Amino acid sequence: MKITDCKVNHLTNPIGFSIPSPVFSWKVTETTGKEQAAARIMIRCGDDPIADTGWAELDSLATSVLMTLRPRQRYYWTVSVCTDTGEEAQSQENWFETGKLDEPWVGKWISCDNSEPRHPIFTKQIAVKKGVVSARLYICGLGLYEAFWCGERIGNELLMPYCNHYNRWVQYQTYDVTRQVQSSGELSVHLGNGWYKGRFGFKGRQEPYYGDSWKLIAELRITYTDGTDEVIGTDDSWTVTRSNLTFSNIYDGEHRDDTLLPIPPVCAQLAEAPKGKLTERMSLPVTVQQVLPAKEFIHTPAGETVLDMGQLFTGSFRLKLHVPAGTKVHLQFGELLQNGNFYRDNLRSALAEYFYTSSGEEITLQPQFTFYGYRYVKITGVPNLRAEDFEGLVLYSEMEQVGHITTGHALVNQLISNALWGQKGNYLDVPTDCPQRDERMGWTGDAQVFAPTACFQMDSFAFLAKFLEDIWQEQQEKGGMVPDVVPSFDVDGCATAWGDAACVIPWVLYQYYGDISILQRQYPSMKAWVDYIQSIDRNDHSWRRHFHYGDWLALDGGTGMDGRIGRTDVGLIADTYYLYSTRLTAKTAELLGHPEDAKHYTNRAEHILTELRKDYFSPDGLCLVDTQTAYLLTLRHGLSSNVEGNALALVHAVENNNGHLHTGFVGTPILCEELTKIGRSDLAFDLLVNEDYPGWLYSVKLGATTVWERWNSVLPDGTISGTDMNSMNHYAYGSILQWMYERCAGFQTLEPGFRKIRIAPLIDRRLGFVCATYDSPAGKWECHWKLLEGNHLQVRIVVPFDCTAEVILPQGNDAAYKQLGGHRLSTGEYCVTYEVRNA
Ligand code: BGC
Repeated sequence: MKITDCKVNHLTNPIGFSIPSPVFSWKVTETTGKEQAAARIMIRCGDDPIADTGWAELDSLATSVLMTLRPRQRYYWTVSVCTDTGEEAQSQENWFETGKLDEPWVGKWISCDNSEPRHPIFTKQIAVKKGVVSARLYICGLGLYEAFWCGERIGNELLMPYCNHYNRWVQYQTYDVTRQVQSSGELSVHLGNGWYKGRFGFKGRQEPYYGDSWKLIAELRITYTDGTDEVIGTDDSWTVTRSNLTFSNIYDGEHRDDTLLPIPPVCAQLAEAPKGKLTERMSLPVTVQQVLPAKEFIHTPAGETVLDMGQLFTGSFRLKLHVPAGTKVHLQFGELLQNGNFYRDNLRSALAEYFYTSSGEEITLQPQFTFYGYRYVKITGVPNLRAEDFEGLVLYSEMEQVGHITTGHALVNQLISNALWGQKGNYLDVPTDCPQRDERMGWTGDAQVFAPTACFQMDSFAFLAKFLEDIWQEQQEKGGMVPDVVPSFDVDGCATAWGDAACVIPWVLYQYYGDISILQRQYPSMKAWVDYIQSIDRNDHSWRRHFHYGDWLALDGGTGMDGRIGRTDVGLIADTYYLYSTRLTAKTAELLGHPEDAKHYTNRAEHILTELRKDYFSPDGLCLVDTQTAYLLTLRHGLSSNVEGNALALVHAVENNNGHLHTGFVGTPILCEELTKIGRSDLAFDLLVNEDYPGWLYSVKLGATTVWERWNSVLPDGTISGTDMNSMNHYAYGSILQWMYERCAGFQTLEPGFRKIRIAPLIDRRLGFVCATYDSPAGKWECHWKLLEGNHLQVRIVVPFDCTAEVILPQGNDAAYKQLGGHRLSTGEYCVTYEVRNA
């Protein structure tokens, strides 16, 4: 018996993270037991026992232990589990270490001459006087920083201190530097511009939005063997020299000139603190997650040297160079070729490039303060370039992949891969719309529709929890309003289905992870959003008339914003999402034990529904807005009791469109699910495997390795369909993966956290087989089905420890259930083969 996945607040052995109150979770494997009979958590700090739950019924998904945390302490904890068969095991010792909490900083904010384009390096010589037991570095540098001990990089993270509404909160990171700081040495910190200090944002503004000067605060704390402590903080005794970077920007790239002469050190200047509160980190580390070799070396018709990485991704690169002094090397990054040539016009104003001037020395070049969304890289200035000299570095926030699904349909498999790459490419600290052009921002609508898929694909709890904090920070400043992008970078509008991320994402996280602390934490934000809508809506439905993106990029012929808004009445969408968020807030109030609030929001939801029905439905309950998305919303949110009528209308809306979808950001994520619920999974499968435009496999057939922003981002002849808003890596339509996990694999949770689920896979001959695993917070589920010769179906199911499944076999008869072991399965592995009538 093994206890695995021991986490605090969904993090493994975190150091310096914000942990307002610890929530513990774990999983059990390799046991003969089927259920957890009892568990016990013990926590110590040094030799002091801090907490002991005793043997009790503890929730393996989320157990809160009340404790008062002290700054800069490492708390060690174990969990022991005893099963129904009497087997018992204890986990290895895990830990979490607090940051500085509310302790004042010894270090002071320092800065330098900001008119000098060469980027600063702040340095301090550290004298280590005695034997060292431990050393920690608490640090934040703005815009971005990288810290070094005697030239060796500290940690493997990139793009710290990450992206926030810096006027509200600024994250610092904590590093264990005990190994490095054993004897005297030099601590140095390189700064770049990043989101804080570079041009960034949707409004095309050239000046930085949050700050225009480099700033650094740091504290090195050394504990000596004799028990004494020493703290070395940033102050004006630190010196400043300059690196060889003369330019850095998230959108535009980096310039480095190694022929520049060193600049003599000057004293650092004390500086004003940034406006935001310096806070323990919530951002997950962004690190190199994969290294990709170049797939092909291309000499284009235009005479360019281009490397094809074979995969569109987000990240950086390493380039080995040994060129004569003064050689100028230029790299440019793009998503696709046009007429066989390098292309980058759809990046709009983002220059996405790297300039390097060589000193003549051999070097492996790697950018410090930028990233790119690319598949193709054009390189000039390198004679005798070899493909193997270049490596693509895939960057995203550290998240474990938890879902895997393969089918017998090659194009569908590529779609599955594309959706996963959509997440990898856009979960870089903030859930972004796209990673390449002059946006790369936390568009809330995109994040909202993709969140369930994200949770099936990767462990997304901590990542999205940080985003929810970002949302709440914005709301506190904006009277509850949730801006369209978060962090907002001055975007001050809000819209239906976008702002509703504040209510939908916490609910999604609760459903997927079974940890109610996310609802406790976000409840004020949820209330603030629905109350904000009410303040706009007043008693005259003003929310319907507010600006909305509608069913963004739907193809059903709307005229708003050059047709991007789609034809579904925005008022209907606005009221439906208002209803949805209000219901979620009411349910949350109920769960958290706020009956008055629950009643209040339930009444409001009823009122919204009554008004909706009055204005958007015929007396017999048919939706008066005749679009696929209108019927989908009707069915999904129970807007009408005439389910049959609206279901028929939905089917007609698909059939009348030649069996194709017409939906945008609002309709697409629920399209196949609602068709399935009304008994038309056949149509859902038709839509899934449809290879022509518009449909998911259209882009796959054209060689896409990620999900496109538009159903026709590229035309059948390979020409890009437009450049004003056309990304090849937008994850919204990748939300079909939720349906694939829930319906093709059949994993449907019956209670938050996937401990009790229904497994009801749907079969379709065109897929042939589905092989799926989902390492849920409760344990690893498996469901595999395969159509065999002679209409035989084989189904194999694995139920993890302490979990149960209600199984619905496709066309299952009594004999099949008997062979399987029944309708309700407990922990174990099950298999059945039986005959099906049709598939
Ligand atoms: C973004 C979207 C976003 C939209 C708002 C676009 O520029 O890329 O994905 O949701 O604007 O409608």
